[in-house]
Amino acid sequence: MDYVGHRVVQEAAKEAASTTTPFTPLNLILLSVLVYTAVSTFSRSNTTAPIPRGPPPKVFRTYTPRTLLPFNGENGNPIFFAVRGRVFDVSNGRNFYGPGGPYSNFAGRDASRGLACHSFDTDMLTEDLDGPLDTLDGLGPSEMDALQGWEETFSGKYDIVGKLVSVADYNAGKAAGAQ
Ligand code: HEM
Repeated sequence: MDYVGHRVVQEAAKEAASTTTPFTPLNLILLSVLVYTAVSTFSRSNTTAPIPRGPPPKVFRTYTPRTLLPFNGENGNPIFFAVRGRVFDVSNGRNFYGPGGPYSNFAGRDASRGLACHSFDTDMLTEDLDGPLDTLDGLGPSEMDALQGWEETFSGKYDIVGKLVSVADYNAGKAAGAQ
């Protein structure tokens, strides 16, 4: 074989050797992209994303002034108050009614008289928690109008989560199987 023949054979052998190896730079790049995609897909599908917990379901309940009392926002409790027998969950208004808020006196209480009279006085609140509810006697038309205005505001803003009854009515309802 002459020189040219030798070179052709040598070059062909070199080329064959270089093309048969799978570890070319291009192949290595493609392989790493493939491995990366597979690993990230696999690990994503295996990670169970935490399911966000919604707020606890609201149950319509019958409260007495005493059982309403703990719902005053303290120790992370929800905040409820009652207006003319309807119990509102005003927890979203924690800045108003929560501990230290300007209207915290109403939290956990029957707020009807205080709202009607625009007063934070403690004698606006039912004193005897086991006695009859405030019948709002002595209030005039303008106070009752003011109270109705508040009720409309609250109805559009907060959920009603129960009704407020006196202990006597609660026990009577219980005896009749209503509670
Ligand atoms: C100096 C007198 C008062 C000032 C400057 C005042 C100011 C305010 C302000 C700025 C708001 C927020 C309104 C909003 O962004 O929706 C508010 C809401 C309210 N105020 Fe007053 N207020 C005063 C007196 C009273 C009184 C005397 C009462 C009742 C006893 C009262 C009961 C309320 C209630 C119930 C809300 C609604 C809170 C809610 O949306 O849940 N405020 N007040």
